[in-house]
Amino acid sequence: MSKTPIGRKLGQKVKKGKLKASSRRWLERHINDPYVQRAKLEGYRARAAFKLLEIDEKHQILKGARRIIDLGAAPGSWSQIAAKVTGSTEEDVRVAAIDFLEMAPLPGVRILQLDFLDPEAPAKLMDAVGGTPDVVISDMAAPTTGHQKTDHLRTMHLCEVAAYFAIEVLGEGGHFLAKTFQGGTERELLTLLKQNFRQVLHIKPASSRSESVEMFLLAKGFKGRKSVSEQAAEENADESED
Ligand SMILES: C[S@@+](CC[C@H](N)C(=O)[O-])C[C@H]1O[C@@H](n2cnc3c(N)ncnc32)[C@H](O)[C@@H]1O
Repeated sequence: MSKTPIGRKLGQKVKKGKLKASSRRWLERHINDPYVQRAKLEGYRARAAFKLLEIDEKHQILKGARRIIDLGAAPGSWSQIAAKVTGSTEEDVRVAAIDFLEMAPLPGVRILQLDFLDPEAPAKLMDAVGGTPDVVISDMAAPTTGHQKTDHLRTMHLCEVAAYFAIEVLGEGGHFLAKTFQGGTERELLTLLKQNFRQVLHIKPASSRSESVEMFLLAKGFKGRKSVSEQAAEENADESED
């Protein structure tokens, strides 16, 4: 049995009889997960930290970011990273986070305990972040109902609303990262993102459990919001080409 850097052995079993089989399997997987142990060691609130760090290492989305909005932020590991890269402090807050679950305070992060689908959420987030964000990150996953198709549809809906929000608020050159599912991204959403960003890709980080259908959708390099007349001119040009 190998030992982790914090001295805990991997491959541990939970005694039968104490828990339901499904809970025992979850607990075994959790205590034997190297990312859970690394998160503890490095002071992150969740193993999810490594998904963002891994994506950033390869795609450089956080470098130079001055303001970040974190959607579905609890317990807060992505917000921890966001506060660090933006140099956010209590005096000069540069990170806004939202979750309907309670989240322990984090220095430099303005936390809204609110449903992102609440009509007031976008304005409150913009108010909290204090300026144009460079990056919008969303790890939102709908609470599971036990019915997989329903869960996927709800999470995809969150991804879509997050994408519209990002297009509405990001500064030019900004990036949008969101949780999605394998094969789950609707063609219409991909088209919208491709129209608005220079590059759009799907990513499965190594730290995302292989048995999970979770993927991340990354849209890089926001082209900026066009004026209504510019957009109309483009649409007219497209129509006359048909
Ligand atoms: C996977 S967790 C996020 C983990 C987080 N990125 C971290 O690093 O700690 C997903 C979160 O999305 C939140 N969530 C799901 N739907 C939401 C909604 N409509 N509004 C706000 N938060 C939501 C859940 O409450 C949950 O805390």
